[in-house]
Parts: sequence; structure tokens; C-alpha cells
Amino acid sequence: MTPERLFAGPGALGRAREWSRGLSSSGRVALVSDARVWRLHGARVERSLRGAGLTVVRHLLPAGEAAKSWDCVEGLLTAMLAGGLRRDAALVALGGGSVTDAAGFAAAVFLRGIPWVSAPTTMLGQLDSGLGGKTGINLAGSKNLAGAFHRPAAVVCDPDALKTLPARERVSGLGEALKYGLTFDPALWRLMVARWDELLSGAPGPTAEVVRRGAAWKKKIVARDPRETKGARELLNFGHTLGHALEAAAGLGALRHGEAVVWGMRAALRLSVKRAGLSAASALEADRFLAGVPVPLPRRPDPRRLLAQCRRDKKARAGKIRFILLRAIGRAVTMPVPEADILAAARELLS
Ligand code: GLY
Repeated sequence: MTPERLFAGPGALGRAREWSRGLSSSGRVALVSDARVWRLHGARVERSLRGAGLTVVRHLLPAGEAAKSWDCVEGLLTAMLAGGLRRDAALVALGGGSVTDAAGFAAAVFLRGIPWVSAPTTMLGQLDSGLGGKTGINLAGSKNLAGAFHRPAAVVCDPDALKTLPARERVSGLGEALKYGLTFDPALWRLMVARWDELLSGAPGPTAEVVRRGAAWKKKIVARDPRETKGARELLNFGHTLGHALEAAAGLGALRHGEAVVWGMRAALRLSVKRAGLSAASALEADRFLAGVPVPLPRRPDPRRLLAQCRRDKKARAGKIRFILLRAIGRAVTMPVPEADILAAARELLS
């Protein structure tokens, strides 16, 4: 899979002439977004695409996880067909992780695949979900159980888009960024802890630094293991096994992805002490910090329900649930974890 070209910088969304070059030989593109993101950035991107000589078929998906369904993807595919798009067309996904996941998936399957551009407008999208070509939808109430690897031709990351991010979205992005710190990069973790108040208030300097470092990790790991077959890419799922289970148990969309990942990382820290040799002192220090991240859990889910959700996790092998655990801060491994331990960690966390 060819790696995506990255177009980053203030005003990047308005420079379609650069990032859409060579994208669509028919000159036709689907521009896919949701209503909120459209209000903020849609007209500018559409103008920019038209300015680059492209004919635009606009399609809006519902906001949030609701977009990641067969029905919505079918609606989009049908609109693309009705709009005269064929194999020589392309798609531009403008929005948060739900839009890039669902629209990227539509690009992967439309007439067996057309090129696409990922233009993530959230912090989480710019440092993780908008890069690396994982696309997909939810299935039977669980996250991302159907999908395809389909690398975008280009990723467009405009820091200006982060200025209008709702507070919960910002926390969600920071949660995913903390993952990179704990899993690979102790210096990033320390930087985030030290500048947490500025990051929470959206200060552009530290925010840009965190996005840049998170995206660099993502790029590096995906280059090593593009299709998650070699073990490296799995490590990006620290906090995700229980995190995805929590998202499902809360009802998809009730929790932001990065919020759930914060809870999931707290469970994984406990399991890391028990199973991977993480020192209790390191786990306690990290857990204390994560406990202060503003990610309220409106309803405490039944830990047995979480365990049942974990059994659906994509990393499970031979009936065993596998977690990403830490040997030390910045040193991650994947290993099977007995169900009794998962239940105990979930009970302790949610008590
Ligand atoms: N967000 C995990 C991955 O892209 O592999």
C-alpha cells in the first residue's frame, strides 16, 4: 500500500489545488462530511475543490457514530452512483473519525475501490484515526467490526480546524495522544502532563506539538506494519480493548472514542502490573493522572457485560482475549489476559 502524502499547516483545507492534484481523472469527486463540520468548513473546501477544476457531489452523513452503519454507507454509495461518479472518480472525507472511517470505507468498496483524501478536522483524527487507512463501520452494536484497509492518497491536516473543536472532542483527542506517550514515548507523556492545563484549553503551540508527535508515531508504526499483521500496529490499541467495550456498553456515541480510551488505559495499567511487570509505582502515577482527565462515565456498566464485549475484540486469537500491556512506560507488548483478570480490573476500576 502506498503511504499517503501529508498536507499539514494552517489553511491547508483551502488548498485543494495542491492536495487534489492527480486524484480524479474524470474530474469528479464526492465531498463527504457531517452537518456540523459542513457549517464550519464545507463551503471553503467545496470552493477550493471547484477552484481546482473538480465537479463536486456533496453528501452529508449523520454526526458521530451514527454515520458508521451499513445504511449510511449504502446511502452514500447510492448518492455517488446517482451523482455520476464512476471508477475514475475520487472521494474527499472532511470531518472527525466517524466521517473518515465511514467515507473511507465507502471509497474502499465503491466499484471495488476509488482513491480518497482524508481531511480530519478533529485532534483525534489528525493524530490517529484519519491516518493509516483503517476504514470501517460498526456491527451489531460493537465498534469497527467491518471494514477495510484503504490508504488515502493524501491526508490534509489543518490546525485551524482545531480552533473550533468542542471541549469534549479536545479531551478525546488528548486521550488518544496520551496513549502514544504511555505506549511509545515517555517524553511525550511528560510533556503532556507538564502542559496539561494549556492543552485542555486548546493552546495552539502545545496542541500542534502533540498532534505532530502523535501523527509521527502513527506514521512510523503504520510504515512498519501497514495491515496489522506483524504485531507493531496492534500496539496502537493500548487502552482500546476495554475502551471499545465501554463505548459499546454505554451505547455507541454516548462516549467519545478518546474518552473511552482513557478508561481503557486505566484498566490496562492495572493488568500491566499483574501480567507484564509494570512497576506498581509507575502504574499508580500514570493512573492518578488519568483519573484527573475530565471523562465522566454517566452510567457504570456491568463488568460482565464489558467482558462479553471484549470477547468480540479483533485482537482475540484462539478464544483468548489479548491486551496491549506495558512492561514500562513507553514499552508495550501484546499478550493474552485471562478473563478473571479482566473482570477483576474492570470491577476495581468501576467500583
Ligand atoms: N487506531 C489504531 C490503528 O490505526 O491501527
